[in-house]
Amino acid sequence: MSIQSAVRRLTAPDIRARKGGEPIVSLTSYHAHTARLIDPHVDFILVGDSLGMVMHGMETTVPVTVDMMILQGQAVMRGSARALVVVDLPFGSYEGSPQQAFATASRVLKETGAGAIKLEGGRRMAETVRFLADRGVPVMGHVGLTPQAINTLGSFKALGRDEASAKLILDDARAIADAGAFSIVVEAVSEPLARQITEEVAPPTIGIGGSVACDGQILVLEDMLGLSDRVPRFVKKYADIGPSIGQAVADYAADVRKRAFPGPEHVYAAKKAG
Ligand code: KIV
Repeated sequence: MSIQSAVRRLTAPDIRARKGGEPIVSLTSYHAHTARLIDPHVDFILVGDSLGMVMHGMETTVPVTVDMMILQGQAVMRGSARALVVVDLPFGSYEGSPQQAFATASRVLKETGAGAIKLEGGRRMAETVRFLADRGVPVMGHVGLTPQAINTLGSFKALGRDEASAKLILDDARAIADAGAFSIVVEAVSEPLARQITEEVAPPTIGIGGSVACDGQILVLEDMLGLSDRVPRFVKKYADIGPSIGQAVADYAADVRKRAFPGPEHVYAAKKAG
């Protein structure tokens, strides 16, 4: 007998249907505990390959592997019940051919139970997006600043500031929208460009440094919590928990050194007294 979960998890078609409606809320998460905390508040959780930089201290996302994405994708699925979980395909695991992309995407979906994958790139990935979408893989696209291309871009700077490059990014978004992407992340582009993309493409756009013109927003959780060393300028900090963690650890260390650490005898004494 199968036991149905009481909570229905959102799906890629649910997110697709939100175009032009209530703004879509999303954050990254790489762990069961943070997934549990954000799940009631977000529509989708992205297991981003930013985990290489945020969790592992890598300089870029390029070294991230499929195995790393699967391990953290499984953790996020265990910690969440309601939000759609989207897992990034890491650099080198999908660009070679549509067949390579399908092999990686199907492994990620089977081994994590996530509901969709995300991949970076516009026109050059359109054939692959169509190949995947036609074969049952919901694809979230990602245009504008694509961090996996850091070695050809040279730096993580905003793009599409002049007319020619803005046109290329618009063409990228159109190409993957036409190919069947159910949603598109638009990273580090100007408001007029984000607005034009959002008005022209059918799937909802998700901005990260992409202005309020998008259909939804995403941030890296650790960036908005004040836990990251390097934070893009567009990120609003909603908390600053890094210093609180430092203070808590310093208080703990002081207690241990003073032998003031509450051991079992304190618990038993408190129980007796209470
Ligand atoms: O890897 C990631 O976290 C991302 C978001 C920044 C959109 O791609």
